[in-house]
Amino acid sequence: MSADAAVRVTNNLEAFWMPFSANRQFKQKPRMLVAAEGTRYRTADGREVLDGTSGLWCVNAGHGRRQIADAVHRQLTELDYAPAFQMGHPKAFELAARLITLTPPGIDHVFFTNSGSESVDTALKIALAYHRVRGEGSRFRLIGRERGYHGVNFGGISVGGIVTNRKMFGTLLTGVDHIRHTHDIERNAFTRGQPAYGAELADDLERLVALHDASTIAAVIVEPVAGSTGVLLPPKGYLERLRAICDRHGILLIFDEVITGFGRLGTPFGADYFGVTPDIMTTAKGVTNGVVPMGAVFVKNEIYEAFMNGPEHLIEFFHGYTYSGNPVSCAAGLATLDIYQEEGLLTRGAELESYFADALHDLRGLPHVIDIRNCGMVGAVELEPIPGAPTKRAFTAFIEAFERGIMIRTTGDIIAISPPLIFEKSEIDELVGTLRDVIGKLD
Ligand SMILES: Cc1ncc(COP(=O)(O)O)c(C=O)c1O
Repeated sequence: MSADAAVRVTNNLEAFWMPFSANRQFKQKPRMLVAAEGTRYRTADGREVLDGTSGLWCVNAGHGRRQIADAVHRQLTELDYAPAFQMGHPKAFELAARLITLTPPGIDHVFFTNSGSESVDTALKIALAYHRVRGEGSRFRLIGRERGYHGVNFGGISVGGIVTNRKMFGTLLTGVDHIRHTHDIERNAFTRGQPAYGAELADDLERLVALHDASTIAAVIVEPVAGSTGVLLPPKGYLERLRAICDRHGILLIFDEVITGFGRLGTPFGADYFGVTPDIMTTAKGVTNGVVPMGAVFVKNEIYEAFMNGPEHLIEFFHGYTYSGNPVSCAAGLATLDIYQEEGLLTRGAELESYFADALHDLRGLPHVIDIRNCGMVGAVELEPIPGAPTKRAFTAFIEAFERGIMIRTTGDIIAISPPLIFEKSEIDELVGTLRDVIGKLD
């Protein structure tokens, strides 16, 4: 390549169509990250930015972890790739066996994917096929929840409940319905932890059972704490009630733990935090500390066993990805689990939760702040939208925060924060202190 062409390539921001981004805004004034270590990013113009979001809710053990990098490098030189279908390699089995030591009792089987979206679609397919292999193929309906986020594949956006993610894409999956979301600022604003009001919203599932009949419903999927839609917590008693309704009607309960898995709430999974065990759990992100794509779907033993019948030479479940359980992701996953274990990160959030909550709730009273909520190491500050310009106020906060050296995330007019689990209290102070300045200066 000529020197002239090289310069053109380096400065060409047009070719890359950025995901979930305001492309034109970004390309006018890029926020370019070039390095990361521990809890901080470094930008192209040499500034440090404190990571208040664990990347995208995934870098739970912090950045630049040598142990993971070395494990990945070793794996690449030893066995770079192995076919995933009808063949195996030891690390996929080892990682699966290690992972199920963390899951609730009775959930002892793992299906590997490469992302949260793939985990969700895999879980939905497992649910449909499970009912069919046990002779209840009439259960074809999938139930999601308003405001749910379950990734971007067709299954996930069908059961998901975020209108912008759905409205462009035609009819989506048929046979899908939604229960109501649980966000109720009028009754629950500024609650620390689980809100008091709204357990009865789980009964919305009974309404759908009455409408469609339980014999047509395969599964219901919810996030224990909805993350991407703005940190919505389950009211006290809500998940228990959902579990009981599912049991009553033979409906599978799927927890989408892509964000809540791997220590985010101060427990290994959201299921542990809330004391409610689903039938299937979808995960991704933290399974490899976010550094190599991987997802994992955990299923109850009865579900796995229902497939293990028929002639033994036949494939039991016609589903899988070229990279399901690939050696490099598995090596990253094993090294990540070592770090989580050695540093106690899967429960560290519990030690920091109340300090984090105090800092966050101290922002109450700032202009435009209409709610603050928290759970484990996830928190949100909801702003009143600018009339006629929804999302603009929070987006301005995001840009301003980045200029001032902190990374936050916004969705609608909600600011979400979810720091790496290695955060120190002083870093919570720095993050929330800067956020206070940013919010205080918003129009
Ligand atoms: C609950 C939930 N499910 C699924 C996904 C999709 O994951 P991915 O972006 O890895 O496909 C996300 C991503 O944030 C998520 O929060």
